[in-house]
Amino acid sequence: MFKWGCGLEFLLVLCGLELSWSCPRHCICYTAPSTVSCQAHNFLTVPEGIPPDSERIFLQNNKIHRLLRGHFSSDTVILWIYSNNITYIEPSTFHGFTLLEDLDLGDNRHLRSLAEDTFHGLARLNALHLYRCGLSSLPNNIFQGLRNLQYLYLQENHLKFLQDDIFMDLHNLSHLFLHGNRLWSINQNTFRGLRALDRLLLHQNQIEWVDHLAFHDLKRLTTLYLFNNSLIQLSGQCLDMLPALEYLRLNDNPWSCDCKALSLWEWLKRFRGSTSSVGCQAPVNMVGKDLKELRKEDFPNCSPTAPNSESRAQTHNLSSTVNPSMNRGVVIGFGDQTSVVQPSRPSRSRNCTKPRNRLSKGKEDNEVHHSKEVMADKDNSSSDFTEGGKHDHTSPDGTVTRRKHKCAPRTTMRPPSGVQQANNRAAISQSLLHVHAIFVALITTYVGSILR
Ligand SMILES: *[C@@H]1O[C@H](CO)[C@@H](O)[C@H](O)[C@H]1NC(C)=O
Ligand SMILES: *[C@@H]1O[C@H](CO)[C@@H](O)[C@H](O)[C@H]1NC(C)=O
Ligand SMILES: *[C@@H]1O[C@H](CO)[C@@H](O)[C@H](O)[C@H]1NC(C)=O
Ligand SMILES: *[C@@H]1O[C@H](CO)[C@@H](O)[C@H](O)[C@H]1NC(C)=O
Ligand SMILES: *[C@@H]1O[C@H](CO)[C@@H](O)[C@H](O)[C@H]1NC(C)=O
Ligand SMILES: *[C@@H]1O[C@H](CO)[C@@H](O)[C@H](O)[C@H]1NC(C)=O
Repeated sequence: MFKWGCGLEFLLVLCGLELSWSCPRHCICYTAPSTVSCQAHNFLTVPEGIPPDSERIFLQNNKIHRLLRGHFSSDTVILWIYSNNITYIEPSTFHGFTLLEDLDLGDNRHLRSLAEDTFHGLARLNALHLYRCGLSSLPNNIFQGLRNLQYLYLQENHLKFLQDDIFMDLHNLSHLFLHGNRLWSINQNTFRGLRALDRLLLHQNQIEWVDHLAFHDLKRLTTLYLFNNSLIQLSGQCLDMLPALEYLRLNDNPWSCDCKALSLWEWLKRFRGSTSSVGCQAPVNMVGKDLKELRKEDFPNCSPTAPNSESRAQTHNLSSTVNPSMNRGVVIGFGDQTSVVQPSRPSRSRNCTKPRNRLSKGKEDNEVHHSKEVMADKDNSSSDFTEGGKHDHTSPDGTVTRRKHKCAPRTTMRPPSGVQQANNRAAISQSLLHVHAIFVALITTYVGSILR
């Protein structure tokens, strides 16, 4: 019987029957689409013997610490290695992976840095997960050429700064998650090129400065989260550049509700979408009030803001001068773009924000105010995310929810759930039965022909 068992494999090879015998130890493999699932098994390295034709590779929740060229085949379509302990990715690890659509490297807290060309050539990449990777900066051209990318997750890193034009090639990007970083400034060309962007999450940063043209390309943005930052002011003209905006959250910023707030107040009056509260923290007589509830009389002696028509015209002229198709070559330099745009900048300063006066934060008032505000926000935001976006890590009240079950489906191509594994096990044993039947039939014929 033992001999027969050995003979089975031999016969299978002879008969050209293909069965994934080469599944790595402690992994589950199955076909259609060809999948290797090696989750949660304390692997310290990428296991050996991953079949070269594997389209989907699941390695999450292990302790893998390095990714090197040759670990995976360039036919890989989905590769999940989140929640490991990756500290190094060889720059060429993914070179030539022209079929790769979903790459999840999230929650590898010691990763800290990436080489500039790590993702180059991933022309089909649709989702890139780099959340909670301890990144404090990004190399200049890291996202170059990712024209198919729709979801980019960079939240919960330590990013302080985003280079101009870093997202320039991401014409298809729909979701950009940057919350929970340490950003303090949004510049004119930080988001240049993001013409398909739908959701921009910037909450829980330290943003105190938003350039007045920062949103100039975001014509399709519907959702903008800026809550829990350090904004004292934001001009209405800045938000006028967002014609598709539907959901805006501005709560938990140290808003100053004096004349500086007039243009935002006017914009809020015009806006038809959903907004959070905008709690004032200055001046003293306004502390605790919601900017949205103020009346015109609350802004006495303020010079009127620019009439709409004028600001539109200027906006138009300005944004056409910074058309992304122009000065494409400026991508790298930090200083160059200012000189390009300088001539068209109006002499009258129309910055969206002012540097924050850190002394102005009234702590106790803020706290009382805050809990009230959270309630109010909860009441009125339930419709914001009714579709519950499977790619979102953000709940309707704006708090960040961790992905507890990362194995829950997030893309149309589903990860192996327990049920699927069971099914596939069943399928495998069924095919084994089938093979066994063929084998028995063959042996019978063989023995029969010998006896004859
Ligand atoms: C992860 O890697 C870092 C850096 O090599 C190391 O200090 C840490 O102990 C590792 N953590 C685990 C859980 O292995
Ligand atoms: C971008 O998205 C559109 C539809 O949203 C799709 O037709 C197109 O193939 C995508 N890729 C590129 C490179 O534009
Ligand atoms: C604001 O964000 C910081 C982290 O940036 C966090 O510690 C704090 O709890 C947040 N506050 C609120 C009110 O969400
Ligand atoms: C906008 O540009 C047009 C010509 O392109 C010019 O006639 C007009 O004066 C400009 N408007 C402003 C406000 O600069
Ligand atoms: C606007 O920003 C520029 C720098 O870009 C700064 O020099 C100027 O003082 C700012 N103006 C206001 C009113 O904050
Ligand atoms: C919610 O919004 C409605 C108007 O849409 C308003 O009447 C109501 O007071 C708001 N509730 C809270 C708690 O802010």
